[in-house]
Amino acid sequence: MLLQRTYWCGKISRENIGEKVVLAGWVQGCRDHGGLLFVDLRDRTGLVQLVFDFERHGTLFKEAEKLRSEYVLTVRGEVIARSAETVNPKLASGEIEINVEEMEILNTSQVPPFYIEDGIDTDENVRLRYRYLDLRRPEMQEMLRLRHRLFMAARRSLDERGFLEIDTPMLTRSTPEGARDYLVPSRTAPGYFYALPQSPQLFKQLLMVGGVERYFQIARCFRDEDLRADRQPEFTQIDIELSFCTRDEVIGEVELLLASLFRNVLGLEIKTPLSAITYDEAMERFGSDKPDTRFGMELQDISGIAQESGFKVFNQVVAKGGTVKGINVKGCGSFSRKELDDLTVLVQSWGTGGLAWMIVTEDGFKTPIAKFFTEEQLESLRKSMAGENGDLLLFVADEKENTQKILGQLRVHLARRLDLIPEGEHHLLWVLDFPLLVYDREEKRYTANHHPFTAPREEDIPLLQTEPLKVRSLAYDLVYNGVEIAGGSIRIHRRELQETVFKLLGLTQEELEDKFGFLLEAFKYGAPPHGGIAFGLDRLLMLMSGRKSIRDVIPFPKTAAGTCLLTSAPAPVLSNQLRDLHIYTISRK
Ligand code: AMO
Ligand code: AMP
Repeated sequence: MLLQRTYWCGKISRENIGEKVVLAGWVQGCRDHGGLLFVDLRDRTGLVQLVFDFERHGTLFKEAEKLRSEYVLTVRGEVIARSAETVNPKLASGEIEINVEEMEILNTSQVPPFYIEDGIDTDENVRLRYRYLDLRRPEMQEMLRLRHRLFMAARRSLDERGFLEIDTPMLTRSTPEGARDYLVPSRTAPGYFYALPQSPQLFKQLLMVGGVERYFQIARCFRDEDLRADRQPEFTQIDIELSFCTRDEVIGEVELLLASLFRNVLGLEIKTPLSAITYDEAMERFGSDKPDTRFGMELQDISGIAQESGFKVFNQVVAKGGTVKGINVKGCGSFSRKELDDLTVLVQSWGTGGLAWMIVTEDGFKTPIAKFFTEEQLESLRKSMAGENGDLLLFVADEKENTQKILGQLRVHLARRLDLIPEGEHHLLWVLDFPLLVYDREEKRYTANHHPFTAPREEDIPLLQTEPLKVRSLAYDLVYNGVEIAGGSIRIHRRELQETVFKLLGLTQEELEDKFGFLLEAFKYGAPPHGGIAFGLDRLLMLMSGRKSIRDVIPFPKTAAGTCLLTSAPAPVLSNQLRDLHIYTISRK
């Protein structure tokens, strides 16, 4: 390369008129105006227009005629003002152009499979296959910059608060609980496997036993689970742990970090302390442990009226200890019969018996179940639901958890469909007091709601022996626009309590020693009280930048099927590689 770059394309302006500059970048496009050739040159900062003039420089012009999209160049030229009618107000460098005097073509390019510009409507698989071309697009460059700013702001803010960044192993051991592990076979220990970490959870706790007191890491985590728009098999956490802290102190530190991230990445001041609600309240009001609070349509309990009514679907559910709840879909009384039937089929597919509906009209209720209710009951229903003329009331009767879950899903479904969710708002909310355990009906055993190292609330410890499902934990989740972006807890730091919890989770003494012996042993040597949290960095960035999928904020993501379209991973390996690893495969797709 003979010419050394002196300026960024997107940074040249009127101020540079008359200067000689050297630029480097890719050809965005060429326009031939007979004797005058205009070429847009792009680098990561933006575009600038180059001009080749046949009259002034015939050989150079001939050379420039060979240029095609995505050719790589350096040019030397003079910055000149554009004539008034050719000024391009959309471009930062739109008032000037470069009169080229010298050019080096550093590389040619095939015709790219899609336009290198924003807002393209290309199949995502093609973008992933040619991710390096996709990343050249300005909106992807912007994403990379935001991601970088998020990393840097997190590091700066945590460093200022005395947290040490400490890395932990990628090759570790498989432990039960949580998602499925990605395994790595050992060559030197036949039949033995490492596991890639699902999170640095145990290591960060051991760091607390190791006297570190304040730890953080931008950590890569691996989980072999079913993928969705907000889930990747490998993803990045901002992982944090502190010693000698209460729940509220952890929350306070996290809010300081979060405020600094919003300030540095988006230039926004968030109001702290953030709002918080308990898990129970979240389920009661929103039917979700990650409520989207950007819109209303909260769940109302009408079990009392339902019980009194003559409608069997309702009163029998209440008699069996279930719950009847409803949502008011404001102004949607005009839904057609077909739309209501479709909603019924939808909630049935989510796993409940059906959906009851009532439309509030000027002369009472329009509903197929009117006959089961007295006038008074209907009136008190209307009041409980704050029903006004033209509103659509939808009800589900089922076991309490299911009623809440189904209506919670319906609430979000309708809000999306009716466009009730305001864009550009940032709703942050803590959810506290999660139950420590959940009962897995399929496996007929308790599982940890967060993870098995989460401490119960002190006052609920006695319930571990009597009513384990009533035990509340010291876990907390942070919810951002209805998405869980962080989760953590105060940990158990005493061996006996940890053993009790492991046993409730169905681990035998033997399994316990085998799988978690190292942790329980560490707890014998003066483990301090500790707690922490981990942010899903990709999800956080997705929401901050208003994107719909975490794939859009990860430089090299995997598809929903877990494959990398760029490298074609996962892929078969040579048989001698398998032999070295003592592995014999019995099937391949
Ligand atoms: P948890 O499992 O809740 O906690 O994970 C923390 C956060 O990580 C994000 N996340 C994911 N993001 C993308 N793809 C995935 N597959 C995925 N899974 C989780 C979520 C989640 O809130 N060690 C504990 C934290 C702790 O207790 O300190 C942990 O990993 O945003
Ligand atoms: P059925 O008795 O099944 O004919 O249902 C009568 C009405 O009640 C229909 O509109 C159903 O959609 C509705 N319905 C049935 N099961 C439930 C339920 N679990 N919750 C709310 N409505 C229901």
